[in-house]
Amino acid sequence: MNTFKNISLKSFNTFGVEARAAELIEIFSLDDLKQILPRLVFEKYMFLGGGSNVLFIKDFDGLVIVNRMKGLCADPISENDIHVTALSGENWHDFVLWTLDRGFYGLENMSLIPGTVGAAPMQNIGAYGVEFKDYCLTVDAIELATGEIKSFDHATCQFGYRESVFKRVLKDKYFIYQIHLKLSRNSPIQASYGNIQDVLKLKGISNPSHLDISNAVIEIRSSKLPNPLDLGNAGSFFKNPVLEREKAEILLTAFPTAPNFSDGDMIKIPAGWLIEQCGFKGYREGNVGSHKDQALVIVNYGGASGQEIYTYSEKIISEVAKKFNLVLEREVNMIGF
Ligand code: EPU
Repeated sequence: MNTFKNISLKSFNTFGVEARAAELIEIFSLDDLKQILPRLVFEKYMFLGGGSNVLFIKDFDGLVIVNRMKGLCADPISENDIHVTALSGENWHDFVLWTLDRGFYGLENMSLIPGTVGAAPMQNIGAYGVEFKDYCLTVDAIELATGEIKSFDHATCQFGYRESVFKRVLKDKYFIYQIHLKLSRNSPIQASYGNIQDVLKLKGISNPSHLDISNAVIEIRSSKLPNPLDLGNAGSFFKNPVLEREKAEILLTAFPTAPNFSDGDMIKIPAGWLIEQCGFKGYREGNVGSHKDQALVIVNYGGASGQEIYTYSEKIISEVAKKFNLVLEREVNMIGF
């Protein structure tokens, strides 16, 4: 375990905002975590994975625990199916590549999603028609109050769109320690999502392999989403609003060109489109702005404070509310609000 006092968090968040933590501890094992559990009863703390979904609005006057737990293994279930276990501090994309390298398929559409393995169940990450929950068997987590390890099966995780029980009722009560997935050597190819088909067509690929899908997703993401190493950002800043049919129909009557997707009984409207309609795509205000190719992403042009980014996001919420009569919800976690 590594301990740092009064440390800058700039390199620990992909927005690249300056904020300081009173203390930061990197943990490499469950034993490391168990050692600090007693402190969590009476101290202010937060867990951090890849820092790709947080915005530090001000300094954090507590303990930041950075998860560096690494470990991957695979056990056959049957001729084609494999049980894969990954520790939560692994980088998600490296994990996806590790599975693809071994011919274990299913995660290819979720290539290049930033963050750690532990963050994946937390917010049920998803991209290009696939979500984490589609492959999840169980999630092992440690109860912070008791140190006990509990295994959460699929139903108990209560997965939803960018949601899980760990973000809701069990928020701050458990630390996700490892995940178990069921992958397959003959998992179905999921190429129906619009952009994937376009890229495959351009490459002349009519019968794509799982690797072709992964490469197409990597290409799309790299072309549309800014690399945090070049331009600070945390991916989608807002969730796509999911509306009841009645409310969606009012919006679609007023704005017939709005893209929309059925999600069970509900209709999902892309927040990127709503934000673009309000004139924010490529708009910049000081050090903050909305990305030129994807309005859903807020970027730090360099030197922006967390507060500046937060204020800018408030402006987007208020303009979208004025024009469309709906309130965008942030996907990124606000720290220090
Ligand atoms: N759109 C616009 N303007 C924009 C952006 C998007 O009109 O500036 C329209 C597009 O034309 C398209 C629709 O919105 O019709 C959907 O856009 P896209 O396919 O880019 O996906 P998204 O809904 O904006 C979601 C996820 C992404 C994920 C992509 C691909 C959320 C909040 N975001 O974005 O996840 O990569 O789908 O599956 O659900 C992330 O969570 O950080 C993230 C990047």
